[in-house]
Amino acid sequence: MSLSPESLTDAAREYGTPLYVYDAAELDAALARVRAAFGDARVYYAMKANPNLTLLRRLHAAGVGFECVSAGEIARAEHVGAAGESLLVNGPAKSGAEYAAGARLGATFIVDRDEEVALLPPASRALVRVNPALAVSTHDHLATGAAGSKFGVTLEQAPGVLDALRAAGHDALGLHVHIGSAIRDAGDFTAAFGRLTDLRDRTGPLAVLDAGGGWGLDADLHGIAREARAAAEAFGAELWVEPGRYLVARAGQLLTRVVGTKRTGRHFVLVDAGMTELLRPMLYGAVHSVTALWDAPEHGLWDIAGPACESGDVLARGVTLPTPPRGALLAFGEAGAYGAAMSSAYLTRSRPAEALYEDGHWTLVRRRETPQDVWVAEEV
Ligand SMILES: Cc1ncc(COP(=O)(O)O)c(C=O)c1O
Repeated sequence: MSLSPESLTDAAREYGTPLYVYDAAELDAALARVRAAFGDARVYYAMKANPNLTLLRRLHAAGVGFECVSAGEIARAEHVGAAGESLLVNGPAKSGAEYAAGARLGATFIVDRDEEVALLPPASRALVRVNPALAVSTHDHLATGAAGSKFGVTLEQAPGVLDALRAAGHDALGLHVHIGSAIRDAGDFTAAFGRLTDLRDRTGPLAVLDAGGGWGLDADLHGIAREARAAAEAFGAELWVEPGRYLVARAGQLLTRVVGTKRTGRHFVLVDAGMTELLRPMLYGAVHSVTALWDAPEHGLWDIAGPACESGDVLARGVTLPTPPRGALLAFGEAGAYGAAMSSAYLTRSRPAEALYEDGHWTLVRRRETPQDVWVAEEV
């Protein structure tokens, strides 16, 4: 990410901390990298990674569609003007409201189990999500294509579900596969796409192959794209992809201020952001890069902990930092994906503001919540 320490300091001064900051240029660059690798594949942004309306509007204007997994996400997509072919409605346990909203907007549904053939609105466009039963290179909680996972139909079931969709009057476009998130090894995708193409003799040609998302930030995008294209060609299908994290992670940072330091068995720097603003370290043991926006003659190894009364509220361990003065700023990198999106109001903490940097200027794209925002729905 290209934001200078000066511009980050300006944003923190203007909007306070904790603060999520986004760099429009990096978001555009990530989309350009995806398009360079995947050519004319249709891109659906998995908005679970970051549903901020300003980012959605920017992606929508760039011709990107949306993959939605809740009535709220569908409402966001509609709010920014997306409909029809630019909408995918996905999820393992869709509600009646989600089927109805998807149908009203003309979305394509991703069918996750055979029962859904009878639950879909009449004459729906549909893809069948296939679970390729593979162990992949990511945290267990991020793996969605393992044999025991709750997602998709089995390889064995998939051709029958396509047939059942057609028999029920739906437009069965093709197959979908998404094996997990933050996947490091491009070979995992090769294996998954290979298991799908093995179905070719039983499915016949298909209109669409949706290769999902899940690409680790340092994964070989061109290699994954090559394999995805080959799989789509095997079916004579158009290729669709659903990146979430890859598009927005590096465009975002979480800015937090040093509240103080403490020496127990370890050396802690206490900051004003924690698990409520960046859950991934606690949830998945995720490691985010850390940038200190100050300097000092002495450096040491520090654990960076948040304000929550939870022992697990530690954002990073054993990070080399200059001795931290109170009030100094720290930036957590790769926080554009699943940062704000997973933030919570636990402890009646106000969710942070979000600001976008473009052409040398900051714009507030979400105001900081107040305690009243957090409890307003309880005043019934
Ligand atoms: C079906 C589907 N597609 C795409 C994504 C996006 O994954 P990522 O953000 O890792 O690219 C997810 C994330 O869980 C998903 O479930």
